[in-house]
Amino acid sequence: MKKQFKSILNEKGRSELPNILLAAAECAPLSKTGGLADVVGTLPKSLKRLGFDARVITPYHRCIKDRYADKVEHMFDFYVNLGWRTQYCGIERLELDGVCIYLVDSEFYFGDKIYRGGMAEGEQYAFFTRAVLDAIPNLGFTPDIVHCNDWHTAMLPMLAKTQYNGSMQEGLRWLLTIHNIAYQGKFGFDYVQDLLGVEDKYYTPEFLELNGCADFLKAGCVFADRINTVSPTYADEIKTAYFGEGLEGILSARSNELSGIINGIDTKVFNPLTDPALPARYHKGRLGNKKLCKLALQEQFGLEQRADVPIFAMVTRMTEQKGFDLVERMLDELMQYNDMQFFMLGSGDRDYEQFMREAEQRYKGRLCAFIGYNEELSHKVYAGADFLLMPSRFEPCGLSQMIAMRYGTLPIVRETGGLKDSVKPYNRFTGEGTGFSFADFNAHEMKDAIMLALDCYRKPEVMGSLVRQAMEADFSFDRSSEEYAKLYLWML
Ligand code: ADP
Ligand code: GLC
Repeated sequence: MKKQFKSILNEKGRSELPNILLAAAECAPLSKTGGLADVVGTLPKSLKRLGFDARVITPYHRCIKDRYADKVEHMFDFYVNLGWRTQYCGIERLELDGVCIYLVDSEFYFGDKIYRGGMAEGEQYAFFTRAVLDAIPNLGFTPDIVHCNDWHTAMLPMLAKTQYNGSMQEGLRWLLTIHNIAYQGKFGFDYVQDLLGVEDKYYTPEFLELNGCADFLKAGCVFADRINTVSPTYADEIKTAYFGEGLEGILSARSNELSGIINGIDTKVFNPLTDPALPARYHKGRLGNKKLCKLALQEQFGLEQRADVPIFAMVTRMTEQKGFDLVERMLDELMQYNDMQFFMLGSGDRDYEQFMREAEQRYKGRLCAFIGYNEELSHKVYAGADFLLMPSRFEPCGLSQMIAMRYGTLPIVRETGGLKDSVKPYNRFTGEGTGFSFADFNAHEMKDAIMLALDCYRKPEVMGSLVRQAMEADFSFDRSSEEYAKLYLWML
């Protein structure tokens, strides 16, 4: 066990590392719509290397059943009371990369989409919340800390503390990680009361209420023993009205119990030297093969096969968060006047998807819009592109920019949240940097950063050293998990 952990344990009068149970709506590679899944999939593996017993509890989504049904083992089942409904709930167990994952089975709630949207999603995750609380005493694993993630699991501490008095193990602690404060799980109080039996007295601004709604994430911010988020900059930002989405008050009030730990990536999964998805593998000393990845990408998607033209890529959920308004504003100006190609891999808001599809028609052979979610293709894009554009309006952490750097693709980012904490902007005087950045959410500032990137692309020496510096940056999850380990220990 690491020396620093030992000394913290000694201070706390304990000799054993705590058991951790991570609760989350998605967990890669089983289920994934975004970075939350990557973090929940990677953190327990990394904690295990530090000596922790960290397990995961997550819904047994359709997409998991389809691929892993023959590997799961049924543990037990029971009935969950949710409003007037009584629903079957199975607890299945799956061992993946040495990590134990408990899967909450309900064909009724998890037989289709990971997120059903609207009120139905509230009921989906109210069910999950109740199922987790009822299952914990029977898992045969005694967590010391339940680590909740985002609004879907943020009601756990409140219900545990207000409805399970005595039946939960003594000293059980609750950590809430906010991956994205823009999603809070807001529903009518009557609805939440009906589903989860919350007492009237909690429907006040002091506890659950925000702007006339019952707010799951707010409940987590009030009742969790510790709160953290996924980068130090975002931890500061969410204490302000601009980023806090109404929770800035409670977060400022609890600022001593709020911290920011930047995520990392699974450097085994994202490794250009071993990645089976790539047509050619490479490392920082053999970048010729990165060119082959580029040519293959161009060929596969009908782009002009030219190694001398830079590809700017985006791999993302297509939402307002990701800065599409800036892209819409600038795309034509950039494409018309510059020798560049653009690769869009993503899906999301209809308007943005439509805009990209139409742009593909206007710039045939120079712009590809692949609308959809495709894990394997994402690896090819990270490898084949030269630049990754991430002009986010806000970005709690962001993993795409880290993956891009690992593949020697330089990120162009807005200086917010984890983008600010992970991308070192190019300094033309010292040559330092791992990408490009701009400060304000402004299309012309983004354009200036892109023009600087284009300029560097024309200078092989500058470009070469930036690519090497980006590939040398350390984004392994082990750094993050050491921070989590210390946080868990301090919570005991
Ligand atoms: P967020 O969680 O806000 O979506 P992150 O940058 O933290 O943003 O994580 C996004 C993750 O999802 C990355 O692993 C990225 O590669 C992946 N991703 C996003 N969109 C797609 C897509 N269309 N196809 C494949 N992977 C995607
Ligand atoms: C959220 C955020 C993203 C972050 C991810 C994992 O989806 O939007 O910035 O990287 O969670 O923490």
